[in-house]
Amino acid sequence: MSGMKSQLSLPVAVGVLLVGLPYSISLAAQWLYGWPNKPGYKKYIEALKPRRIYCVTRAVLESLKYLQYGRLYIQLKSWYKNEDNRKHYKKGITFGRRGNKLDLYHPPNTDKARDAHAPLVVFVYGGAWGSGERSIYCLLARQMAEELQATVICPDYWTYPKGNVLGMVQDVADCLVWVRENGEKFNFDQGNVVLIGHSAGAHLCALTTLFLIDEREELFIELNKQRDVTQSIRGIIGLSGVYDIMDHYVHEQKRAVEYMSTMHKAMNGVENFPYYSPTHLLKSLSPDKLSRVPQMALLHGTDDLIVPVESSTRFSELLTSRSLKASLYLLPEVNHTEIVTDLMASGRRFYHLIYSCVKQEFTKLAGAC
Ligand SMILES: *[C@@H]1O[C@H](CO)[C@@H](O)[C@H](O)[C@H]1NC(C)=O
Repeated sequence: MSGMKSQLSLPVAVGVLLVGLPYSISLAAQWLYGWPNKPGYKKYIEALKPRRIYCVTRAVLESLKYLQYGRLYIQLKSWYKNEDNRKHYKKGITFGRRGNKLDLYHPPNTDKARDAHAPLVVFVYGGAWGSGERSIYCLLARQMAEELQATVICPDYWTYPKGNVLGMVQDVADCLVWVRENGEKFNFDQGNVVLIGHSAGAHLCALTTLFLIDEREELFIELNKQRDVTQSIRGIIGLSGVYDIMDHYVHEQKRAVEYMSTMHKAMNGVENFPYYSPTHLLKSLSPDKLSRVPQMALLHGTDDLIVPVESSTRFSELLTSRSLKASLYLLPEVNHTEIVTDLMASGRRFYHLIYSCVKQEFTKLAGAC
């Protein structure tokens, strides 16, 4: 009797493991993050397709890898909370129409005379247009200020569902307007600005710059201010950036996470993908405006599964085909997380590799370092 029981329990256990577990995990994930965008009961039929169950389960299990960054997270949160560290930066300066806040990090160990001419970096974090906050990047901003001998600003912006992509572009543009008006007060060179962005942040850097060059009304910023700001942008450095929303949506479909991702919601639906794609915008600029596009440097890890390396290689090809200056760095073994977490502490594996590329480009763009 007991022998038969154990004979039966093995297939049952295997069955539960191979079918029950993936179904539970992937249905829970879709319930949390969003069902397929299909009418009525059809969304559940789509949600239950074996390929989707398999892919979503894989994505969920892969996301468990983020647990390994727990220690780093605790470390940076406690650095940010520690009042003693306030000497390195100014915390929580309000800017722009939505009352967002930014932190400003000074370059360390510089004499006053040089300090006054320190170039400025605006670092725009990523988070799939749906998450992120400036405190997480405190260690990165501090290291960056030291490595580049620059003042580094890290602004917040309204992510989805608080805001949509146009609001995020306005927030980044507002930050640049604030930069134009506060160089004297905070001792940086407001005419020498380099934008550095990661992932969705790289997308926002490129898109905001192109909207400014195109003098878009929907920015709701006076034209003369837009022109001033545009002139001060010396270049953009993109880390694992998304530059074509449709291409990225196709990649999300391959991973079966397109409905769970915040991207299509933040972009106001599929029909607006071209409108918010730097690639598409670049193709539509007049030669005169095209000549105002600043230099770009694109860095991308070859082990990136979240945003494939083709995103940067294609964008770089497009820039070059329009006779714009672009540099492309493909970093072996680096993935989507490490390209930003490894900029946070000098002991991390790819710290020197990534900073050496960033430094080289930054020196070219800002003419300092
Ligand atoms: C990124 O790569 C490192 C190894 O270089 C690995 O330990 C880590 O799990 C990867 N992170 C993610 C989120 O895949």
